[in-house]
Formats: sequence, structure tokens, C-alpha cells
Amino acid sequence: MPIITSKEMFEKAYAGGYAIGAFNVNNMEIIQGITEAAKEVSAPLILQVSAGARKYANHTYLMKLIEAAIVETGLPICVHLDHGDTFELCKSCIDGGFSSVMFDGSHHPFAENIRLTKQVVDYAHLNGVVVEGELGRLAGIEDAVNVSEQDAGFTDPSEVEEFVEKTGVDSLAIAIGTSHGAFKFKGEPRLRFDILEEIQTRLPGFPIVLHGASSVIPEYVEMVNRYGGSMPGAKGVPEEMLRKAASMAVCKINIDSDLRLAMTATIRRYFAENPSHFDPRQYLGPARNAIKELVKQKIVHVLGCDGKA
Ligand code: G3H
Ligand code: 13P
Ligand code: ZN
Repeated sequence: MPIITSKEMFEKAYAGGYAIGAFNVNNMEIIQGITEAAKEVSAPLILQVSAGARKYANHTYLMKLIEAAIVETGLPICVHLDHGDTFELCKSCIDGGFSSVMFDGSHHPFAENIRLTKQVVDYAHLNGVVVEGELGRLAGIEDAVNVSEQDAGFTDPSEVEEFVEKTGVDSLAIAIGTSHGAFKFKGEPRLRFDILEEIQTRLPGFPIVLHGASSVIPEYVEMVNRYGGSMPGAKGVPEEMLRKAASMAVCKINIDSDLRLAMTATIRRYFAENPSHFDPRQYLGPARNAIKELVKQKIVHVLGCDGKA
């Protein structure tokens, strides 16, 4: 099974009213945990790599680890660049074997976002690679894109048809109230489903992407706090909201913070309970298992893509 694009995954997800999980990967244990989970429940998968992940782990290492996961699991996997912010970065990932790239031009004025995104689409499509564009700005910290909460702007539905038509993107990330990281809402979580609904009406059948979609699982926040950490006020997107989005036009749901939290909470607990241990396999093994269980729960209870590989 080769690396595949998300085209067919999204067509089936849209028609079936479910979503594909796009999980951020940074090292071997994360890749193993995610892919073993997807294999057990037979789910299609998007593994996404940020510029920061490439810098940390190296492009070739990540590609080889993903290739190994494909051999081991036999799963269809799409390899995606998360938050590409320049043509050069997107080109480097396309030339280096990714099947999908995001060009994040959301911080540029509309016309410039269109121009820059189209440049990436033209090169990507020549090479059989699909492109995710973004309209609207999420609050929080993105890779090299720092958007303050006040600056966050929901996607303007009146812009989506022109953006999709003029750029030729294959999917569109929108801002409806989610944000990156573990501190997403000060008060009650609220997403603008009315905006999603209008976008869905304007772009029938077109796959929509939700960034900043970690639920920031309370059990893991409590575990971090219990074992020496401090994350007061950490809050994510409630799972029922993600299920609703997945039943609508949202075909790709991005999850990174939940993986980080599960891994960190597990390692904190391990050291609290085993203060004299120092073999990395002893704490990375349980962390990998925590990721596997988390991803299975997401696939089966939130995304609904189990059995769809
Ligand atoms: O949206 C951002 C992702 O969580 C990637 O984060 O840039 O720290 O790798 P990173
Ligand atoms: P979270 O921080 O909510 O996991 O979002 C991840 C993301 O959007 C990656 O692009
Ligand atoms: Zn994101």
C-alpha cells in the first residue's frame, strides 16, 4: 500500500457523514501509537507533519518511519504538511514524497492568500499532490503564525466560493471558534455551526477541515496536575461538537494537543511512580500505549471512520 492522497478518503467521508483524523507526528512512538490504533479498528489515516516537526525529527527520518508504518499496518495513509507558510516549504515536502500539503495563507489579505495558494496548487497538482487552503484565522499559536485571540476572525462564508474557484484547492480549513493548543475557551465552549452550515450550502460536497480540534481530555489534564504539572483552565472542544462537525461537511479533524497531553501525563505518572527508573523504553512504551488508546477512542467514538480503511 503506497502513500495516498486524501481525495478518495474525503469523498467517502463526506458521503458517509464521518471524518478522517489528521494526527500530528514528531517521533517513532507517536507514529507507532497512531498507526497501531488505526490498524486495530481499520481506519484510514492522515499523518501530518509541521515545519517544527520536520525541524525536530528531520524530513527523511519521518518519511522512513511512516513508510515503515505502512509496511507494518498495510493501511492507506496520507502524508500531509501541516501549516505550510511558504511555497518553498510546500515544494520541498511535495518533492520529498508528501501526498498532501496545507498552504496557510490565512494571515495574508484575501487576494494575496489566493495568489500564494494558487501558486502552491499549480505545483502540487502537476505532481499528483492535493492542497488544503485556509480562510479565516484561528486564535492561538500556529507554526510561525502567531495570531492573538483578539485578532481571530471567523471565516467569512461570502468569500469561500471565490477562494476555492480561483485557487483550485482540494479542501478548505475554516475558523469557527476552535483554536490551537490546550487553552481553547475561557468560558463555555462555543462553535459557530451557523457559519459551517452556510459554507456547506455554498460549497456542496466540498471537504472542510477543522484545525484546533483537540478535546483536551480532562482525565489527562488532571493527571498532569496530580503528578507535578500545572495546567489550570485547560479546555478543549467537546466531543459531541466534533461528532456534529463530522456529520456535516467537515472531513478532516486535526489533533495534536491531545496526543501531547496523553504522552506527557503518562510519562509524568510513570516517573512519580518509578522515581529511580531511567531506561527510556520504560516510560516511552506506556506513552506509546496511551497514544494508541486515545487514537482508537477518537476514531471509534468521535470521528466515526472505523472500518472505513
Ligand atoms: O497547529 C499546530 C500543530 O499543533 C503543530 O504544532 O508547530 O508545534 O509542531 P508545532
Ligand atoms: P490542536 O492543538 O487542537 O490539537 O490542533 C492541532 C492542529 O490544528 C494541527 O494543525
Ligand atoms: Zn492547525
